[in-house]
Amino acid sequence: MNRVIMGNWKMHTTLSEAEDLARDISSRVGRPSKTQVVVCPPFPSLNRVREVLSESPVQVGAQDIHWAEEGAFTGEVSASMVETLGCEYTLVGHSERRVHKEDTVETTALKLRAALGSKLRPVLCVGEGADHREKDLTGEVVGTQISPIFFLDSAAAARVMVAYEPVWAIGSGRAATPQDADEVCGFIRDWIERVHGKSVARSIPILYGGSVKPDNVSGFLLQKNVDGVLVGGASLDPEAFASLVRASEGATD
Ligand code: PGA
Repeated sequence: MNRVIMGNWKMHTTLSEAEDLARDISSRVGRPSKTQVVVCPPFPSLNRVREVLSESPVQVGAQDIHWAEEGAFTGEVSASMVETLGCEYTLVGHSERRVHKEDTVETTALKLRAALGSKLRPVLCVGEGADHREKDLTGEVVGTQISPIFFLDSAAAARVMVAYEPVWAIGSGRAATPQDADEVCGFIRDWIERVHGKSVARSIPILYGGSVKPDNVSGFLLQKNVDGVLVGGASLDPEAFASLVRASEGATD
């Protein structure tokens, strides 16, 4: 499985800034041989970023979708709207959506299914808060958040990607240790294997996210159960992002 380096630009970049960032990333990243590189710009820039990257192996994803195909949902964007722009991925259940937009396990499950009903590959984001970790509830919280995968048929489950992002590590500068990230990613893979079998569990990339930077990325990429990283802050700096890709290219399999 290729490693995945995915950038989440969150609510950053105007249209022209997004264009410049995409161009800069594409020229610095070049053509990696064993790394899948994805950027997730804000909705208004998706189309333009896709165009800018049309000759580049760097792929494009959305940061969220609505679960309905269409309807009276002011301000929302459907899977098919994103898919028809030529995007290949969408995040669902990012902790900032769970915290600020009240996305729940149930609504995230609907978004996961909406993505799978289109050609988009969903990246299901999960992770415990600091209070959960202190109370030793990481397994319980993450287990509940990944449960929507258990209800899919195995062919659909094999198209899902998971990003383990402990909430306390996001944007805090305090990343999980590579060993802790590996342990939780391994726990996720074990559960998927129990429900869907080994080959599905092996085909699902499981990423770590939360304060990943050029100076700590290698530790994560060396872990058995970590197939890549989902990156916020460092994905807005083209040189930092490109150096994550170089680290992935240089890491031993
Ligand atoms: P961060 O964000 O890299 O800035 O911690 C990660 C994320 O929210 O996906």
